[in-house]
Order: sequence, then structure tokens, then C-alpha cells
Amino acid sequence: MYGDDIASVLITEDEIKAKIEELAELVAKRYPPDSPEGDLLLICVLKGAIFFMTDFARALPIPTQLEFMAVSSYGSSTSSSGVVRIMKDLDKDIAGRNVLIVEDIIDSGLTLSWLKRNLSTRNPASLEVVTLLRKPDALRTPVDVAHVGFDIPNEFVVGYGLDYAERYRDLPYIGTLNPAVYS
Ligand code: PRP
Ligand code: MN
Ligand code: MG
Repeated sequence: MYGDDIASVLITEDEIKAKIEELAELVAKRYPPDSPEGDLLLICVLKGAIFFMTDFARALPIPTQLEFMAVSSYGSSTSSSGVVRIMKDLDKDIAGRNVLIVEDIIDSGLTLSWLKRNLSTRNPASLEVVTLLRKPDALRTPVDVAHVGFDIPNEFVVGYGLDYAERYRDLPYIGTLNPAVYS
């Protein structure tokens, strides 16, 4: 539907689905149901993680509550500026809760390391991260991530929530972007 903009499909819709089921099973084991901390709190990092969050929450066999936070470091460029801005903060206090940050991708790691530092000052009982994608070769800061779906090459990818200049989020798969689009 985007003409020749997508150079190749990196991860298919079926592969995403299978991986989410696998991740959900692993994550659920770490959070006993009926814990004194209450239901697991999933924090979706808008906008990129929106589709992953909704599919992941429904695949998890434990009760969860959903919160949303919007941060932005990219603007419309293809590389991270490292400057993170809160566009929308949490509505709720997370003190004493089991919190799981849900991200679509860790690229330089700057967004997530900033976010983890920010959220840990709010005293959650636990704070972990699940990300669908990670680019090991692009990391610029070490960030501890409990659960990773796919490690991918250092190429610009779009789809399943990931955008270039706000486009392509609605693709059901992860694809590489034709360089002609951004050059
Ligand atoms: C993208 C992506 C991650 C972050 C990863 O978000 O969704 O949140 O960048 O990059 P990093 O590891 O280099 O920090 P973006 O800032 O583009 O906002 P969006 O989710 O609204 O697209
Ligand atoms: Mn994002
Ligand atoms: Mg983006």
C-alpha cells in the first residue's frame, strides 16, 4: 500500500505473532498472579509501541493494567538526537507496583535508558523492559532489557508501530525502508 517505499519484509506478521506468544509465556512466569503489588502494570511507550502493547497484553495469561506515556527523541529524522521529551506523562502513581515498560525498538538505547532512570525515581516495586526489536550494532549506551523479541541489523525499519515521519506505522509487518524515501 505504500508503493515501492518498502524495500523488503524483515519480519512477517506471523513471525511477530509467534514471537509475542513466546514472550508472553516467559514474562507471565516472572509475575505470580495475586501478587501483593497488584496487577502487572504495562507502560506503553507511545506511539511506536502501540500495536505491540495491545497484542502483547492480550497474549499474556495474567491480568495486566495499561498505562501510556509518550516520549519523543527522533522527531522526523532517522537517527536519535538523544534529547528525550515527555509529550504525555503517566496519569497514575507507580510506587510499589510491578512495572513493565513495553517498547517497540531499542536503537541507540538513549530513550529507554532515560525512561528507566525517570521511572525508577518514582519507586516502583520492580521495573523491567520488554522490547519487540533491538539493534545491537546501534547501541550507544548500555541498557538492561529483560526480554527482547528480535535482534535486527542496523537498518531503518518501519511498520507495526514504527514510523518514518509518522508514516508506515499501520503496516502489519516490519519492513526496511527504501533509502530513496529519506534521501
Ligand atoms: C522510537 C522508537 C523508540 C525509540 C528508540 O521512538 O519507538 O521509542 O525511538 O530509539 P533509541 O533507542 O535510539 O532512543 P520515537 O522517538 O521515534 O517516537 P515514536 O515512538 O512516537 O515514533
Ligand atoms: Mn517510540
Ligand atoms: Mg518514531
